[in-house]
Amino acid sequence: MMAEILKPTEDALKKAASVIREGGLVAFPTETVYGLGANAFNANAVAKIFEVKRRPRFDPIIVHIADFNDVERLCLEVDERAKMLIRKFLPGPLTLVLPKSEIVPYIVTAGLETVAIRMPSHPVALKLIKAAKVPIAAPSANFFGCLSPTTAEHVAEQIGREIDLIIDGGKCPIGIESTVLELVEKPTILRLGGLPLEEIEKVIGKLEISTLSKRPRSPGQLQKHYSPRTPLKILEKDLVVSKDIKAGLLAFTPPKDKLSFEKIEVLSVSGDLSEAACNFFSSLHRLDKAALDIIYAEPVPEIGLGKAIMDRLRKAEGIKNE
Ligand code: TXA
Ligand code: MG
Repeated sequence: MMAEILKPTEDALKKAASVIREGGLVAFPTETVYGLGANAFNANAVAKIFEVKRRPRFDPIIVHIADFNDVERLCLEVDERAKMLIRKFLPGPLTLVLPKSEIVPYIVTAGLETVAIRMPSHPVALKLIKAAKVPIAAPSANFFGCLSPTTAEHVAEQIGREIDLIIDGGKCPIGIESTVLELVEKPTILRLGGLPLEEIEKVIGKLEISTLSKRPRSPGQLQKHYSPRTPLKILEKDLVVSKDIKAGLLAFTPPKDKLSFEKIEVLSVSGDLSEAACNFFSSLHRLDKAALDIIYAEPVPEIGLGKAIMDRLRKAEGIKNE
């Protein structure tokens, strides 16, 4: 049965909070992408997330909080660097990976001694977490490895039949997942995302970006991830698109001529990277549904959010990004 889809009224959020407390699954909006939430302290509820997402058990889940005191409660130690970043960027699209305390179940961290903590800035997410009165473990509300959902419709299409409730808070304003930063020993970026790298470096200095290893610490690092079903290729100069294939174009800005593309999605009319990030997954979802043979993606400038967009394009293309 399709999950109920409710607008984020007081009543709906009360209902969602009680579903979470009772061990159910609720999809909810955040400023980055939609999350699939469960009570982080309920191991059975968290196990259901893995089933619904068809997600490997070695992939840890982010714990979402709405109260700064929960950082101390869920983490064994919060060093000075973490404190500075928390003061400056939370709530917002930054996830910190810190040593976990014993109250965090191992199913949430996939057996790791670290936990990923995130305080979203989306008012609906904050209200829901507060009403649930427990931290909410939530991955993106899509099938593992597929395109992330930035609208309630995206969620309904993929996993709507397998969860209890969807809160429809409209389109996610940032549109790409949070930046994941590990603060154990050397600060290391595990996933480029909604908070630009440069902003973090202004506060704690130069960061290492973790490259792919055989056993990724963070599946966002898997070579092929965030992928449409249609093959995707990053556009190179002087491309000749064969007339025999149905090709789509994911353009950064409006193309000068239509060329021979079946379908074109423009990320930003004015060439604004924030707008491009916000439209990124919706545009890819539409291209993926258009029965194309291939999607060509125009590269975007690799500054600010452009780095996170290019990272996702390279992963969708399945080319090693080291
Ligand atoms: O923006 C976001 O972060 C969204 C919204 C819903 O909050 N969530 C999200 O979750 O993107 P998910 O599960 O799709 O991606 C979380 C990433 C994964 O690559 C996971 O491996 C990594 O964070 N992660 C979680 N806990 C970790 C840990 N303890 N150590 C290393 N990586 C961790
Ligand atoms: Mg995800």
